[in-house]
Amino acid sequence: MRIPDSIIDDVRTASDIVDVIGAVVRLKKRGKNFLGLCPFHQEKTPSFTVSAEKQMFHCFGCGVGGNVFTFVMEHEKLTFVEAVRALAEKAGIRIPEQGGDDRGENTEQERVLAILRLAGLRYHDHLMTGTEGKLALEYFRHRGLTDATIGAFGLGYALNSWDDLLSFARREGFDPPILEKAGLVVRREDGSGHYDRFRGRAMFPIFSPAGRVIAFGARKVREDDPLAKYINSPETPVYNKSRVLYGLSQAKDAIRDKEMGLLVEGYMDLITLHQAGFQNVVASSGTALTVEQIQLLGRYTKSVTLVYDADSAGSKATLRGGDLVLEQDIDVRVTELPAGEDPDSFIRKNGGTAFQTLLDGAVSFLDFRARQMKAEGLFTTPEGKARAMRALVETVARMRDELKRTFFIKRLAQEYDIYESVLFRELDNVLGKRQPGSARPERPAVPAGHAGVSPSAPAVRPPATGGGIPPIERDLLKLMLEHGSVMVRHVFEHMDMAMITSPTARAVIDVIVQHEEGGAFWDAGTIVDHLQDPVLKRIVTELTIARHEISPGWQAMGSDPPAPDPRAMADDCILRLHVQAIDERIAETYRLMKDAQLRGEDSTAFQQGIMDLQRQKKELQRR
Ligand code: CTP
Ligand code: MN
Repeated sequence: MRIPDSIIDDVRTASDIVDVIGAVVRLKKRGKNFLGLCPFHQEKTPSFTVSAEKQMFHCFGCGVGGNVFTFVMEHEKLTFVEAVRALAEKAGIRIPEQGGDDRGENTEQERVLAILRLAGLRYHDHLMTGTEGKLALEYFRHRGLTDATIGAFGLGYALNSWDDLLSFARREGFDPPILEKAGLVVRREDGSGHYDRFRGRAMFPIFSPAGRVIAFGARKVREDDPLAKYINSPETPVYNKSRVLYGLSQAKDAIRDKEMGLLVEGYMDLITLHQAGFQNVVASSGTALTVEQIQLLGRYTKSVTLVYDADSAGSKATLRGGDLVLEQDIDVRVTELPAGEDPDSFIRKNGGTAFQTLLDGAVSFLDFRARQMKAEGLFTTPEGKARAMRALVETVARMRDELKRTFFIKRLAQEYDIYESVLFRELDNVLGKRQPGSARPERPAVPAGHAGVSPSAPAVRPPATGGGIPPIERDLLKLMLEHGSVMVRHVFEHMDMAMITSPTARAVIDVIVQHEEGGAFWDAGTIVDHLQDPVLKRIVTELTIARHEISPGWQAMGSDPPAPDPRAMADDCILRLHVQAIDERIAETYRLMKDAQLRGEDSTAFQQGIMDLQRQKKELQRR
């Protein structure tokens, strides 16, 4: 059965390649990529490379490569559909069963996403250009947001109207039931129709990790608004709030880069931090932090700093959150804001440098707990001290890594002058109590149900050399894969497909052009799914990942070399291809001329032709 593309996309976004491969191959971070021993051939020095950024892998040793689906297919010997299903199951994404009404359901989901996107655009328009929206725009500006930030987060304003969105959507061909499914309108209790859910509010679109609008948060800005400060979208087919982190689509690259994520409570906290240069920030907005949210964040980093409000609700949230995060095998640190502040107010009062200082002073969650109990006066009596120590040991017990537990227990023993053995015994008690009941399963190897299949060679091993594409065409292909639609259009505005001489390169470009004409989003990762030929697949992954191969000198300095302008590079390639084409025509004309001379015929026309071509070539090169 065909799985709908939108679901394949969801599975792709939900399955981080570093996670999936990391579960079966030991990966080490090297520059921007991860490196390990190839599971598909025998090797002693690692040449198996995984790119988190590109979500692709490639082995420079045996040439196997692809995206997350390819990996599971080859590693577990599954078909494409089976691989998608296995990963979907792991990510908790439901794939409609065969024979069901899944086509209808899929298009309904697409319709819901489509109207959410349009609603986001409309709210944004109201904010930027409407007279009523001015109020909200001033509100955002008053809170220190620049237009760039407002744009980056797609902020908007919903008119104070019962039917602005309803009638706009109707004009766009969306009926009330779809809007209701999208959570944008509410059905009247007497059943006599629908009305807009968000009225007279500043709007915060909530995006999926891939950047699609899936819900909204709406803040009160009008004096006469009787409802809560924030109203959020209800749960819908595309929005499960316990699985969504606000700001993740804008933060994920920064989180990976900095190998650390900041976790805040509010929409505005997140946006203000982002604007101040702390882009590795997500928020649990509208819900207490959930395990699913932490697991989602855990795909991007194993280190989290909680930056919660300095009030009693905030510190309760910190305690709860800290425990949960630790249990997911993620290191937690905690910052302490001055009393009464939240991250947003702190930054606006004190600026980014002060916030950085605060971050630098973040303490481990264990220290935070100890400090808190000290402040509560628990350490002043022997009974209190015993209670406090027990609580601290309980926190240590939440860590999954035995080495870490040992390290923290030893530190507690030193700091509080207690025998290590006593603390270890206490730890064993806690662990013994917890393990059987609330099973904390080790993460299973991917995918569930296929664990334990031993690594083996891929079915078809691509040949060892890279397709024999001439260097200029290789560069051009690489630029197209890297920069997508814009680059493809630029290239073919300035040259003809026929100028690509390599059939291999042409085969890949054909697939790219098909995607481009199809109008849907594509990148190297989606292209790979549409290449059957392992040689072509190999070329795409190699070109995509080789970009991050950095020369040893740069690697030592810990940075990439400065990137030249891609368009200029493409223009250079195109120019050289034009020149090459002319050279070929010159050579061909020259051959014809020689033939004519041998037959004793007149060859002046050919001579003239060659001179013309040479003039053209000079002209090109002057440019
Ligand atoms: N929240 C919510 N519903 C509410 C109140 C709060 O969903 N009625 C969520 C929002 O995501 C909000 C976060 O909890 O951003 C934190 O709430 P709070 O600290 O009360 O607000 P701030 O984020 O400080 O909001 P602002 O700065 O806009 O006043
Ligand atoms: Mn606030």
